Amino acid sequence: MKIRKPIVIANWKLNGGLDLICVSVASFIGKHFNADIAICPPYIYMRDMMTFLQFSELHIGSQNVSRYQSGAYTGETSAQMLKQAGCSLCLIGHSERRAIFGETNEGCNIKVRTVLTHDLLPVLCVGENQQEREANVTEDVLYKQIREGLANINLDGKDLCIAYEPVWAIGTGLAATPTIAQEVHQFIRAQLADMFGHEIANRLRILYGGSVNKINTRELLEQKDVDGLLVGGASLDPGHFLAICQQASELAVS
Ligand code: 13P
Repeated sequence: MKIRKPIVIANWKLNGGLDLICVSVASFIGKHFNADIAICPPYIYMRDMMTFLQFSELHIGSQNVSRYQSGAYTGETSAQMLKQAGCSLCLIGHSERRAIFGETNEGCNIKVRTVLTHDLLPVLCVGENQQEREANVTEDVLYKQIREGLANINLDGKDLCIAYEPVWAIGTGLAATPTIAQEVHQFIRAQLADMFGHEIANRLRILYGGSVNKINTRELLEQKDVDGLLVGGASLDPGHFLAICQQASELAVS
């Protein structure tokens, strides 16, 4: 049985449309899960998804959030707007946003704080790239991402998730082995304990992401410190995503 309630999040990235929303939500209707399940569609589909959600336990997440509250920031969406749209959680600092859109640890820190202020669940994404893993600096990279991303944050009464997504595993079909995932998650939890104390570190959930599918779900989630999954490509197939969520739910109670 998992110590912490599993959480499975689908990150659709710049994919999907109304058809996928209908089929995905329909496959969850009337089903109960012992896990928190969320889908992060492109912003434009959030409201459409909300209208279909009332008979399912699905939550809606956003793939990003503005660091600003309001004003002359063309193209941005604030945490308050996301909250009003029915969103429950926000991904922050996904590696694609870091690599393609120049997001920094400092910017992620502002976003985490903004999201917490609006009672949304921040999911801070961290992870090393291939060169960093080969150069044996994975822990240094994660240390900086976590320390700077979570600097000056008070988590009393607040929840937060970390998603470990090794860049070399994203979209490559080469998921981290369960052993690597556990080692890294343990390291991340130790950092959280150092920053926030053991009690808080023991309740925060750490997700793994990177080529997750219905075949490797079980072995990854069986690891003590793997509390959930962040799923990209496999979440675009509703039946496949459902199978991942069902396994997470079973592991929660078995
Ligand atoms: P894949 O599951 O397609 O590797 O993507 C992982 C990811 O980036 C989820 O945020």
